[in-house]
Amino acid sequence: MKYLVVANWKCNPATLSEAKKLFDSVGKGAKNIKNAEVVICPPFVYLPDIRHTKYNIRLGAQDCFWEEKGAFTGEISPKMLKNLGVEYVIIGHSERRRYLNETDKMVNKKLKLVLSLGLKPILCIENLNQLKKDLKGMGISKKVIVAYEPVFAIGTGKPCGVVMAKKMRSSINQPRVLYGGSVNSQNAKDYIKKGKFQGLLVGGASLNPTEFVALVKEVDLISKI
Ligand code: PGA
Repeated sequence: MKYLVVANWKCNPATLSEAKKLFDSVGKGAKNIKNAEVVICPPFVYLPDIRHTKYNIRLGAQDCFWEEKGAFTGEISPKMLKNLGVEYVIIGHSERRRYLNETDKMVNKKLKLVLSLGLKPILCIENLNQLKKDLKGMGISKKVIVAYEPVFAIGTGKPCGVVMAKKMRSSINQPRVLYGGSVNSQNAKDYIKKGKFQGLLVGGASLNPTEFVALVKEVDLISKI
């Protein structure tokens, strides 16, 4: 199994040409990566124009709706994403829960649909109670990739201490758990080597191609899981 390094571009960059440039820089920089799977999650609108097959990079989305199709103005279905070559979908990011009032019930419905279509969900949680609610009625689906993202660490430059993160990792009974929150090229390998995570979810640092490629290379240096 490879380590997973997921770039969450959030609502960035402002233009398609910048998005293509960023993607190409990462694609070129990461071309010899062996031990890590690099996933880039751009805003929806850039997905059709990003030629991921040219590189050693997988495509992800930052969210999706819980129905395949229908009268749901403004929503994007996971089926549409799949048809664009998307493999991974981030679900329940704390920013969506906070700014868009996304609930555990909604997250749960999204997870079920994403799994049923054969896409790989990356479920963001900040505590075990949330995880339990989000996976309700699914048994423990081992296919759900969990990302532990403590809110105080997201976008603050104040990452969670590795000891605390490791404790959380060991209490999540899933095969693949990522750490997210102020990850950079300096601290990336600690969460994997010391914290025993299977990968990372990277926000801010993924918008700087030099920094992100350096981070991916750090992870690639760690021997296989
Ligand atoms: P950050 O964001 O790396 O900028 O802290 C992580 C995330 O929100 O996924």
